[in-house]
Amino acid sequence: MQTNLVIGGDRRAGADGDTVDVLNPATGETVATVAAGSVSDMRDACDAAAAAQPAWAATAPRVRAELLRSCYQVMVDNADLLADLIVAEHGKPKADALGEIAYAAEFFRWNSEETVRLHGSIGTNPAGTARMIVHHPPVGVVLMVTPWNFPAAMITRKMAPALGAGNAVVIKPPKETPLTALALADLFENEVGLPAGLVNIVTTASASAPVKAAMDHDAVRMVSFTGSTEVGRILLKQASDRVLKVAMELGGNAPFVVFADADLDLAVEGAIAAKMRHSAETCTAANRFFVEEPVMEEFGTKLAAAMSAMTVAEGHAEGAQVGPLINQEAVDNVDRLVGSAVADGANVVTGGAPIEGPGFFYPPTVLTGVGTDADVAREEIFGPVAPLIAFTDEDEVIAMANDTEMGLMGYVFTQDLARGLRVSEQIQAGMVGLNRGVVSDPAAPFGGMKQSGLGREGASEGIYEFCETQYIATNW
Ligand code: SIN
Repeated sequence: MQTNLVIGGDRRAGADGDTVDVLNPATGETVATVAAGSVSDMRDACDAAAAAQPAWAATAPRVRAELLRSCYQVMVDNADLLADLIVAEHGKPKADALGEIAYAAEFFRWNSEETVRLHGSIGTNPAGTARMIVHHPPVGVVLMVTPWNFPAAMITRKMAPALGAGNAVVIKPPKETPLTALALADLFENEVGLPAGLVNIVTTASASAPVKAAMDHDAVRMVSFTGSTEVGRILLKQASDRVLKVAMELGGNAPFVVFADADLDLAVEGAIAAKMRHSAETCTAANRFFVEEPVMEEFGTKLAAAMSAMTVAEGHAEGAQVGPLINQEAVDNVDRLVGSAVADGANVVTGGAPIEGPGFFYPPTVLTGVGTDADVAREEIFGPVAPLIAFTDEDEVIAMANDTEMGLMGYVFTQDLARGLRVSEQIQAGMVGLNRGVVSDPAAPFGGMKQSGLGREGASEGIYEFCETQYIATNW
């Protein structure tokens, strides 16, 4: 297992000798001790990226594309090994971890195809006197700060388009899940042959000083972050010092709307996917379930039956469907949200208290009688809790759905297609699942409105996020 920093092709301990323990959330035990980088390591990584980037940018797009395609293949070939690392450090069930690797690898395949289609334009000015050329050079060096909920996919979703566009990257993975990031860097350098210095990984015990040092480094021109809105705001302020380009994938508070005419079995299936995938620790997770009054009881009963039937277990256990939360703090937070809803009059239909024993497990939980002002409906839960809130008509539910500063994701279930499209368009979110509980796809633009973020990852626009736009004015 690779546990050292990756800087300029070297594998090394942190300059200060610091380390960070990686815990298995299913047991609370240490699975590895990883080098923790300091400010000086971060500066070295930025230097290494700056040294590697010009030659990479000058490499033919077809060659870059083929290397990206090999990154896809090497991930597919090593899916089992990578998924085991994810289970060990994140805790999600092996089936979800394998699904994540397949998803993460697809960002390389998709962006290998986009790399050779990075088009600019040439046109004539309105006066008809000159040509106007627009093209898209790479940004240069990109700092990536990634989350623990998808230890592979949230890296590749940024790294693949950034490399495709001709950038070099410095990645600060989360201290909870650095092992997958370090293994990926090894595979890409050793098996695929990506040039040394193109991908640098600096794990940290405490992120703020090293991240600030990278953002202050002359070569770094962009920061791409996935994580909480709270941290995103801090990074946005810091980015303003050097007017860095930013891409921010931040928090969510997704409404999941079930109309009385919905196919309720499909809605329950969608609810389970939208709430529970990857142990309920996704930014796109359904956070507030708005159910039209006539079907509240039936939907609530079916959802509670499906949630309580899920197998909560260590990720390698036979049939595991829900793993542990990432740490004790996450369990305490979910418990606080449930406790406060109950104190305000909500009913626990299933679940409702942490599971005793080793590891950080919380059971699938359904709450009814939740008020729209409850903390559990206002904060991002990031855990397996479905709060159900009744509504009576379309206008009311649209207002309720939009009554949040977040705007990442929304879900609408109805068999009336016209209504489905009408309501979807009025939900203030970057993505809407219409009769679908999972929407993520490397070919689709992932990102949020309002305080859920800036920019889009994936689709054809994803690669342009890592480019500048240059206009060349001519006199012919
Ligand atoms: C996230 O939770 O931010 C990512 C979810 C996804 O890509 O499906």
